[in-house]
Amino acid sequence: MNQPLWHGRFDVPPAEELMAFTSSLAFDIRLWADDIAASIAHVKGLGKSGILQHDEALTIVEALETTHSEFASGTIVFVPSDEDVHTAIERRVTEIAGAIGGKIHTGRSRNDQCVTALRMWSRRELVRLGVAVLDLCEVLATRAQEAGWGHDGVVLPGYTHLQRAQPVLLAHHLFAHSWALMRDADRLATTIERLNVSPLGAGALAGSSLPIDPAFTAAELGFDEPFANSLDAVSDRDFVAEALFDIALLAVHLSRMGEEWVLWTSEEFAFASLDDRYATGSSMLPQKKNADIAELARGKAGRAIGNLVTMLTVLKGLPLSYNRDMQEDKEPLFDSYDQISRAVTALTGMIHTARFNTDAMAKAASSDALCATDVAEWLVVQGTPFRQAHAMVGSLVQQSLAQGISLRDVVASALGGAARDAMDAGVENRRSPGSGGPQAVATQATLYSQRMSKLRDRFRT
Ligand code: ARG
Repeated sequence: MNQPLWHGRFDVPPAEELMAFTSSLAFDIRLWADDIAASIAHVKGLGKSGILQHDEALTIVEALETTHSEFASGTIVFVPSDEDVHTAIERRVTEIAGAIGGKIHTGRSRNDQCVTALRMWSRRELVRLGVAVLDLCEVLATRAQEAGWGHDGVVLPGYTHLQRAQPVLLAHHLFAHSWALMRDADRLATTIERLNVSPLGAGALAGSSLPIDPAFTAAELGFDEPFANSLDAVSDRDFVAEALFDIALLAVHLSRMGEEWVLWTSEEFAFASLDDRYATGSSMLPQKKNADIAELARGKAGRAIGNLVTMLTVLKGLPLSYNRDMQEDKEPLFDSYDQISRAVTALTGMIHTARFNTDAMAKAASSDALCATDVAEWLVVQGTPFRQAHAMVGSLVQQSLAQGISLRDVVASALGGAARDAMDAGVENRRSPGSGGPQAVATQATLYSQRMSKLRDRFRT
């Protein structure tokens, strides 16, 4: 059979360039297992409703299983008229089962079929991505634990505007990224929950005159419920846009982390060095050791954002039901998923094996100006209004810079030893809830574990 399944009303076969332009087989081939599973449920449904005889249904299911083995073993052979994975499977089933195979598409359209498979693919693969994101969080948490939050916890400068601002525990810094990533995982879990509605049975757009049972196929395929409106069922690609947004925001978080590692591993910062297995060299400069994983994590965000914009732009202005434009849903989704899944795992390995240069961090954090705010807050405790205290300490900073005397000494002579001690307390001075001090970070670590186990539960399948 070398003509499309819809050849009936046409006199001549389609032009080669039409097939070249419109075929989606090259990329929707990855839906083969989902399409076969959905087709088996569909055929069982047809049998149960009496639309197919029991033995007919059995023959078609067997042909689908044979087709499954052919895909699994890589022996499936495509023909030029295979427009997409769905038509390829139907064609093959008909070759195997004979004329009975022609009954497989009863009460079904590719419009409900393709989106059923894509929902099945998404709910499985997004779980995988969510779990990988949580694994990355765990690596960050483990590194935070190693860095510690007791009195000997590793300290580095916290930055605002990329200028040294206040000392923070390294653990606090690492946990900060975990919180963002846990929100990403949470979002993915919600997207998966929302997308788990079966469109199968919606037909081309308006259902069928045959007594098909969408609730049966929905249950067979593990969907929470069937669609309520057939037009919406075939039109809806919200789940693709949502998944692309979730991945784009995840990618943005990874890119911010990537930027930080690029800085930290530079000679200028030297806060961390990468394990050789997770660094790259230069083709020309023999001495180079580059943080390409971090840079690509940063760069891939552009692509993930682009894919989201692609999908939204494809959907905007489309009239209800299926339009061929919607075939453009798959490549952006697969691409964002592939690229960002790889970014997550590569960063996980990179961070797991990196070494922190705690001396360089401590040295950078030891500049006493980082504790200027603590002097102002000490003055507040003595009853000085904050704005006035801020100005007083500001002029002490000016004095220290002008005279080349450390701020500690300037503070001690202007305000006394107690003010200097407040400065020396450094990170220990961060006492407020959620802050970067030892007590607050200990509490945060507990909150983190609670949050993590809730998220693990959401992804337990
Ligand atoms: N390959 C198409 C897609 O992925 C399948 C649906 C085609 N439907 C149609 N009526 N041409 O969107």
